[in-house]
Amino acid sequence: MTLKDKVAIVTGGNSGIGKAIALELARLDANIVIDYLVDPTATEALEREIAELGDQSIGVEADVSKIADLQKLVDAAVSRFGRVDIMVNNAGIETRTSVLDTTENQYNKVMDVNLKSAFFGTQIAARQMIKQGGGGRIINITSVHEDWPMPGNTAYCLAKGGMRMLTRTAGLELAPHNILVVGVGPGAVATPINLSTMNDPAKLKQLDAAIPLGRMARPEEIANVVGFLAGDGASYLTATTIFADGGIMHSSVGL
Ligand code: BGC
Repeated sequence: MTLKDKVAIVTGGNSGIGKAIALELARLDANIVIDYLVDPTATEALEREIAELGDQSIGVEADVSKIADLQKLVDAAVSRFGRVDIMVNNAGIETRTSVLDTTENQYNKVMDVNLKSAFFGTQIAARQMIKQGGGGRIINITSVHEDWPMPGNTAYCLAKGGMRMLTRTAGLELAPHNILVVGVGPGAVATPINLSTMNDPAKLKQLDAAIPLGRMARPEEIANVVGFLAGDGASYLTATTIFADGGIMHSSVGL
């Protein structure tokens, strides 16, 4: 299979899009480091699912907003599997607060979990990839909101906009090392981050109506894109974002 002998780290890897990515990369035969912060039981269940696919994985509890914890993820990958080939900066949170209401704590948390983690995750993984040689892939899970304003979710938009420029700038800096840096920008995906919308039929109807494909994405539909970007077929893609949003960014129906 395409990712045989490759090692991937997936941050926020035990739920939502991250879990689907961990499973897809394992399906393609990579070994996986599953980063998680809460719910060790979910991580263990995922490890068993990956074992059933014939691959190996380890769950590592790490807070990706801390540099030392990101280093712990890379160290775990190297000591268990010998290397890091694919770093998926996926962990993300949102507060759904406007510029008028967002507190300093909310701001810091959103920036740290989404953006700081991706910046230093890129740095620490790239240092390891350069040390081992042979290039690598860094895949940043951003959002349509890396480019598209979302009133009422300001800090999140800032963080995702930052990830957009991280992808582009680090992509240029790391190109000489054949480390490709790519963003994946989902629209609305059926994951825990969107539970409040999914549990409110009126809001869900409005959201579905604004999506040209007429529905939210399944997490696997985002993971499929990541699987492609991690493989040989994506060898000329860097410093850009692939949007997988059902057309929502260009929709003429307002949210
Ligand atoms: C946000 C969701 C939102 C979606 C589409 C995502 O990045 O996390 O809350 O529904 O974008 O607007």
